[in-house]
Amino acid sequence: MFKEIKENVLYIDGCNSVKLVEKYGSPLYVYSESDILARCKALKNDFLLRYKNTRVAYASKAFLNTYMCKLMEKEGMCIDVVSGGELYTAIKASFPAEHIEFNGNNKSREEIEMALNYGIGRFIVDSEVEIDFLEEICSDLDKKANVLYRINPGVKSEDTHDYNSTATKDAKFGIPLDQKILYSAIEKGIKSPHINLLGLHFHVGSQIFENQTHINAVKVALDITEKTYKTYNHAFTELNLGGGFGIKYVDSDLRKPYSYYLDPMMELIEKSAEMLGIDRPAVVIEPGRSIVGEAGSTLYKVGVIKEIPGIRKYVAIDGGMTDNIRPALYQAEYKAVIANRMDEEIKDVATICGKCCESGDILVKDALIAKPKKDDICAVYSTGAYGYSMASNYNKNVIPAVVFVKEGKASLVIKRQSYEQMIQNEQIKGFEEV
Ligand code: LLP
Repeated sequence: MFKEIKENVLYIDGCNSVKLVEKYGSPLYVYSESDILARCKALKNDFLLRYKNTRVAYASKAFLNTYMCKLMEKEGMCIDVVSGGELYTAIKASFPAEHIEFNGNNKSREEIEMALNYGIGRFIVDSEVEIDFLEEICSDLDKKANVLYRINPGVKSEDTHDYNSTATKDAKFGIPLDQKILYSAIEKGIKSPHINLLGLHFHVGSQIFENQTHINAVKVALDITEKTYKTYNHAFTELNLGGGFGIKYVDSDLRKPYSYYLDPMMELIEKSAEMLGIDRPAVVIEPGRSIVGEAGSTLYKVGVIKEIPGIRKYVAIDGGMTDNIRPALYQAEYKAVIANRMDEEIKDVATICGKCCESGDILVKDALIAKPKKDDICAVYSTGAYGYSMASNYNKNVIPAVVFVKEGKASLVIKRQSYEQMIQNEQIKGFEEV
């Protein structure tokens, strides 16, 4: 969305991609704000306005900076964080602490204390060990925490890469379905003076195009809700369905509307509450990729073009696995174009590779693109989620700048890292006793 071609050039949300590189350098992450706003509108229409007592907590691991926090706040979204760093970023952006939900399977004392002191809205507790730990810290600080238990519903989507399946029986996330462990945790939460156990949470995985995995997981959560109500007379008031809704990377990806996943789950949740004679719990979702993924594109400059006769043509760009690790890590596929020659009809098959000293530093294998030339601008689409947020300084490459564009105007929201900043924490000093 919000991409068009004018005079042979790719425009993103009204901005000329060639000019963006001239002004802000390359590689460059470009986010269409209109695209993000359109996703938020879809979330409102399909979920927030359609069902009462619902929230969206943007999974900020997909892409986070202070500007994004402001945008999410303006759009009425909550934020899901998974580390002290994400929490700090949100707080620095003056994001309302009570709208922050804290996930993660190994929160440190420092992180938990920080979150309690800021007064965040929810702790998503991932294990029995964490319940005890949280209770201990709450007791030390004389605080009470609003808590959801992340359960591991033991489901798997065949859609996605194994690394993106987070709710199979053998996963590091969530409280396992083992009856003894689970109900002892629930009993502990109900009785705890420091924990306000509001309900359950699951997240089944990421980049999922079918709805059955979510549906299977919600059934598990509703069974536990029922058993908890019948055994302890404790009605859960909240249920968090996680994120994971798939987006379009390549032409064959068919993105589904949010309602495709959410309507059948909401029906089951409503039915279950009715059957138990309790109020339907508040329902929360945590989309990340589906809000920012397609809004982002990365612009690169083409450098060396190398043809290995009879084998392959490599087109090296000035970034690579340092700004987008996903192809190397998950064999993720992307679509690339030559942004300054969009109308050219004769296409070339070329493999777009990065500049890192790694054979696996390939962004797009056998891309069908206009015949590339040195200094062309190559755009890779749908890099908005888990691109910048997973960027690294490998080979001491700097992290690129991020620019938001909207209706022909641009705003630099993260400056390019400098060499100086890259080594600012390094020091050469003598050894000391420890
Ligand atoms: N909630 C929880 C608890 C999560 O762990 C995640 C993602 C989300 C929500 C958001 O999922 P989304 O809507 O973005 O699919 N680096 C991988 C993705 C890892 C996802 C981790 N958790 C990738 O680049 O594909």
